[in-house]
Formats: sequence, C-alpha cells, structure tokens
Amino acid sequence: MRGKNILIGVTGGIAAYKVVEVASRLKKSGANVKVMMTRHATEFVSPRTFHEITGNAVSVEMFGDAANFNVAHIALANFADLILIAPATANFLAKMAHGIADDLLTTTILAFDKEILIAPAMNTKMYENPATQANLEILKARGVKILEPASGNLACGTVGKGRLPEPKEICAEVEKFFADKILSGKKLLVTAGGTVEAIDPVRYIGNRSSGRMGYEIARSAGKAGAQVVLISGKSEVEPPSGLEEFIKIESAIKMREEVLKHFDSVDAVVMSAAVADYRIKNPAAQKIKKSAETLTLELVKNPDILKELGGLKENQILVGFAAETQNILEYANKKLVEKNLDFIVANDVTIEGAGFGVPTNIATIIWRNGDIETFDKMSKAALAEKIVERVADLLNKDKKFFPLTVNH
Ligand code: C5P
Repeated sequence: MRGKNILIGVTGGIAAYKVVEVASRLKKSGANVKVMMTRHATEFVSPRTFHEITGNAVSVEMFGDAANFNVAHIALANFADLILIAPATANFLAKMAHGIADDLLTTTILAFDKEILIAPAMNTKMYENPATQANLEILKARGVKILEPASGNLACGTVGKGRLPEPKEICAEVEKFFADKILSGKKLLVTAGGTVEAIDPVRYIGNRSSGRMGYEIARSAGKAGAQVVLISGKSEVEPPSGLEEFIKIESAIKMREEVLKHFDSVDAVVMSAAVADYRIKNPAAQKIKKSAETLTLELVKNPDILKELGGLKENQILVGFAAETQNILEYANKKLVEKNLDFIVANDVTIEGAGFGVPTNIATIIWRNGDIETFDKMSKAALAEKIVERVADLLNKDKKFFPLTVNH
C-alpha cells in the first residue's frame, strides 16, 4: 500500500469510532491517509484523533481560512486514488445519490471521478427503508462499490443488519482495490460516439449516438487497470479521466486512420462508435446556397473499419456492436462472422431503455461458438463492466477459436 493516497470520509454515525482503527491500519500499511469529516461525525470522534493517527490535517469545514483559501475539495479530490466513506449514514447516501453538495465531504465526492468505496452503517430499519435501498441502487448503477453492512448488535439496542464491518475487513477491501486488476498490463482501444460526414463547411450527416456506451467502456477498462486509448466522434458526455490518450475525430476516414495507427500496440479493440456507412462524395468547399427545389447528395461507401481490423488481427480481441431495429440476432451474427469478431454486443434500438441517448441498455452478447447471453435492462455503466470482464477473460486465458457460420 506504500505510496497509495487514500481519503477517508467519516459521516455522523456511532461506528465512526471504529474508523479510527481503519485509518491506523491503512497508515501502518504504508498508505498516505487523509480524513474528511462531516460536522456530525465530529460529535462522535474528535478530528484531533484522526490527525494524530494519520499525521495529516483533518478537513471538516468547506469555508475555512479565507486568507489561505486553496479550494480544499478540489485539492482533496486530486490527492486521492480512492475515497472510502465509513461509516456512511443514510443521510449521506441520499445526498450522494442525488448529487447534493452542501458540505466539504459531499462536494469533494462530486469533484472526484475515481473509485469510491462506501461502508454504510445504521439501524436495520433505516438500512432496509426503500428510500435507502433505492439510493444504494442508484450508487451501485454508477459504479460505486458498496460494502454490505454486517448483522449483529446495533448501538440502538436492536439486533439486525446495519453494523459497520470490522476494520480488518474494510482494510482488506481497500487493499483489494489496489491489488492487481483484471486488465493490469493490457492496452485497450475503444471507439465511441458518432462520426460526422461533412456536406459543406456548415452542414453534416450525423447519427443519434451519444457516446455514452463507449465512454463507460473506456472508464470501466481504466478502472480494471488497462491503459485506454479512446477515439471519439461526436459525443454528448465528458470523457473519463485517466485515459492514456483521448483522440477526437469527425469523419469515418479520420477514425480509421487513428484506429489503424494504434491497432498494432493494443491487446483489444472495442468498437462501439456509430460509424457512418456512407460519406458525401464531394463535400462542397463553400456553403451550399439555397436555389433549386431539390438537392441531390451523392454518397460513397465508407471503409468498414472493424471488418478491416478483423482481417488484420493477430492476437487482438475484437468486440463489435450491432444496433439494430429488426432481426437483431441474425444481423448481429452475420456481422460477428464477416468482421471476424470475438463477440458482438447486439441491441434493439427501438425498445425503450435501449440504445441511443439513454443511460440504460438492453443487450445480448453473441459469441463465436454460437452461445448467446442476454442481459436485462441495466445502466450503460453496468453493461460496460460486463463487457470489460469478458474482454479480460478472453485476454487472460488461452483463446479458443470456433469455426464460424452465418445462421440465416
Ligand atoms: O455493419 P455495422 O455498421 O452495422 O456494424 C457495426 C459495428 O461495426 C460497430 O462495432 C461499428 O463500430 C463498426 N463499424 C466500423 N466501420 C464502419 C461501420 C461500422 O468499424 N464503417
């Protein structure tokens, strides 16, 4: 744990006293530990205790000394490789789930885009309350790791689920986060968003891709320890932090150029970009003026980037997407074969909650041996994790290739 930067957020529950031992153990294991506390947490444990244990100043107030103002929440967010919230109260979970930032801790969380580990601890009824459970679901869907509370005697005199796990177990979870990850040492190329094909300097032909799915895959692969190159067309979302390279392109031709530049150096390619099948044959150099009643645009076929990679591939894993409006499995299987993919993620973009512009997806994965995996509606972040796990499985074991046939 030497050199790892861990920020512990302590919220106002009686279990705060146990977190003194968590901080102490992490410090002893070589980590740099800083603590932030909510005001209520200081009713249970003094900031001085954490200060002495960690050797670092403890942050509580959002607005401290104006003369030395250093935007504490950004500094703390930048410091940490991991934020651990323990104990996490029901109130804190509700605030985090809804993006409320009304103190130093919740504001820091909003400014932090790496791994967050949360250990809730509260009375059983509060824990089981549908409001708390719904908030936990929101956080899980966002990729936050939740450490299940233990069952046993609670401070309020009842027995049930809601105890903070023992400090040793919490520290083991933290160490697990820093341990070798499923994609450590691997390099992934992810494409995302929609390509844009110029008609003239002002207009273009585009598509409805938001870029969300690919950006989540890039984020998830990064969390799994991979170096990630993200090549993106038009997108509505912010790229994840920590990428090896982020390359913005417009046209399919440009995307092909960048993909080919990187192909030799990567272990896997996940091609989730919505690449235009056609481009304008002769884009106008000047803005086309309105005159005739009809205007004809001549289109020519774009290169199929993934198909080209399928022909070039040596050991790389290739993953494609098939966004369809009908005959999903048939079309997807055809693409799997024609593009020589390891698996393809198919979805029916006409179904509500799947496909373009929404944060969820309903996908089916088709494998080379004909196996089919279907997934219920889930967040794109959760689906990204499934895809990344499967890529890691393929990269970490001897690959078996199956003869392919197009099923009609
Ligand atoms: O053939 P179709 O466009 O439906 O195939 C979809 C898959 O192929 C996606 O993974 C997409 O990123 C990729 N693709 C490509 N180059 C194209 C068109 C699609 O790489 N010109």
